Amino acid sequence: MSPEALFAPSDDVVAKTHVNATQYEEKYARSVNDPDGFWGEQAKRIDWIKPFTKVKNTSFKWPDISIKWFEDGELNVTANCIDRHLDTRGDQVAIIFEPDDPKAEARHITYRKLHEEVCRFANVLKGLGVKKGERVTIYMPMIPEAAYAMLACARIGAVHSVVFGGFSPDALAGRVNDCDSRVVLTADEGRRGGKSVPLKANVDKALEDCPGVEKVLVVRNTGGDVAMKGSRDVWWHEAAAGVEAVCEPVAMNAEDPLFILYTSGSTGKPKGVLHTTGGYLVYASLTHELTFDYRDGEVYWCTADVGWVTGHSYIVYGPLANGATTLMFEGVPNYPDAGRFWDVVDKHKVNIFYTAPTAIRALMGAGNQFVERADLSTLRLLGSVGEPINPEAWMWYHKQVGRERCVVIDTWWQTETGGFMITPLPGAIATKPGSATKPFFGVQPVVLEPESGKVIAETEASGVLAIADSWPGQMRTVYGDHQRFKETYFQQYKGFYFSGDGCRRDADGYYWITGRVDDVLNVSGHRLGTAEVESALVAHPKVSEAAVVGFPHDVKGQGIYCYVTLMASETASDDLAVELRNWVRKEIGPIASPDHIQFAPGLPKTRSGKIMRRILRKVAENDYGALGDTSTLADPAVVDDLIANRKNR
Ligand code: WT7
Repeated sequence: MSPEALFAPSDDVVAKTHVNATQYEEKYARSVNDPDGFWGEQAKRIDWIKPFTKVKNTSFKWPDISIKWFEDGELNVTANCIDRHLDTRGDQVAIIFEPDDPKAEARHITYRKLHEEVCRFANVLKGLGVKKGERVTIYMPMIPEAAYAMLACARIGAVHSVVFGGFSPDALAGRVNDCDSRVVLTADEGRRGGKSVPLKANVDKALEDCPGVEKVLVVRNTGGDVAMKGSRDVWWHEAAAGVEAVCEPVAMNAEDPLFILYTSGSTGKPKGVLHTTGGYLVYASLTHELTFDYRDGEVYWCTADVGWVTGHSYIVYGPLANGATTLMFEGVPNYPDAGRFWDVVDKHKVNIFYTAPTAIRALMGAGNQFVERADLSTLRLLGSVGEPINPEAWMWYHKQVGRERCVVIDTWWQTETGGFMITPLPGAIATKPGSATKPFFGVQPVVLEPESGKVIAETEASGVLAIADSWPGQMRTVYGDHQRFKETYFQQYKGFYFSGDGCRRDADGYYWITGRVDDVLNVSGHRLGTAEVESALVAHPKVSEAAVVGFPHDVKGQGIYCYVTLMASETASDDLAVELRNWVRKEIGPIASPDHIQFAPGLPKTRSGKIMRRILRKVAENDYGALGDTSTLADPAVVDDLIANRKNR
């Protein structure tokens, strides 16, 4: 099968869709020719406390980068995600919770119950003195309380910063300090794949380096034994006892911050990506409805963690704004076995399923017996996100999971974009395995020549992916560092938002994302800066220098390959490699666990001392036949040693 094979939407899909092919063309044209008209209308899907009179006020013109949408409007996100559904669907399930342990009971939380829980949580936060605009860090497992916590912040205008529960105490501390959180929300422990995750203990360790934290609110989840520290730590259930379940939503300006989410870049420490209220909610809800072609009453499941933007936009905010039923899963794809996803689909009659290529490839590798034993007849649409999906994995998803009956969509977007950017709309766009296809409404992708930055006008193009104008879900700044925001996304290619991804556009105008062109890795759909892993390594007393690159990995997409030069007094050994691997896990978290550590007496450098990563990448890829010109190296012999001792044979 050619990777370019087209899968046209079936008559049935077209008959029921929100957007057919003709409507897509018309609306897309309007969205870019008349953004004020288009988005002004779309924003009516949201309840505004005070209607906006201005729609778009944005500039990508260097150096005056400024992004505002619906700037004089006022709204509350939770009034939209909860309160406005109470009359019509108060008894409908908002969140289905499927615990890690398949024998434990699932929970069904109605919109009415969600309202109560969020109000109570919000009142507890108020009781702790949390104010509008204050940053609250949330470090929680994948349990409904994580969503309550996010929504409780939004209800009172506090800005949440959710930190993925897999991050280490050090990584957590950095994020808590960067946004000056005074309050941290966590749980005793999480559960994943039958093992417990010591969240509270991690918080305790992190807070040794966070002098600004005054209160830690702890949800009892596993009931595991945890130490509670005197006046600092408070059990959620104790704080909530007797607190009333009514809390009026605070009116927020459309441009007031809603949340911060830390993400890795090519340099330095993770950036606090800041999203605001009005544009984000309009965008998250519209993209959720149209891209999943969501219909009332359907059960929708996104397998991401709320610690990532996918969880923010497409587990919590988008689906709840649309009155959907959203499933939260605490566990992992291969526990108790590689059929867990499919068991959960059958158990909860899931209609729409959204996951990452790395999970698809892992389950594909586990054998078809697990997927074959499931019924899966409720499924209608399958989505993919996080990294390029290879056509083999796409076809397996389509055949084995979708039984050749479901629509498969590959959605390209980023933490920074808030929502889908390039993605098929199921009833409008024929798909090609491996392509994210066409832009969403209002999104104007351009392919640039990487060196000159020139826009490639021809339809067929290959280069770097940039966006020519703003969309409502766009991040507004890097928290506390607007200069870094401008430099990261707008400086290199003036007049455009630069995505950091490479791409190809084919003769049909379809986009094929080829992966990062900067020093950002994508490991199992998790974004990681090579610089972060390098600084973790050099923080080890035995390490003198480190360089980290990615290499193609069958399941993870990319693996982590580390070149390490030891202090002169140290000797390389397998034990030391293990020690360094564990060190990185401790410094950042298990997601950053190196696949290969190669000890190298020297790294390939130019005469001016710049590490030539191109060479390191080639050796890591086991493609050293194509090293290219090494004559500019200070010491060309270094390369022979690297090749002789390479790990990825
Ligand atoms: C990077 C963003 C926002 C979703 C979760 C990841 C890569 C994401 C795709 C896709 C090819 C993709 C890109 C992007 N990526 N989706 N469908 N096809 N690549 O969010 O952590 O901000 O990472 O993930 O490289 O730049 P993120």
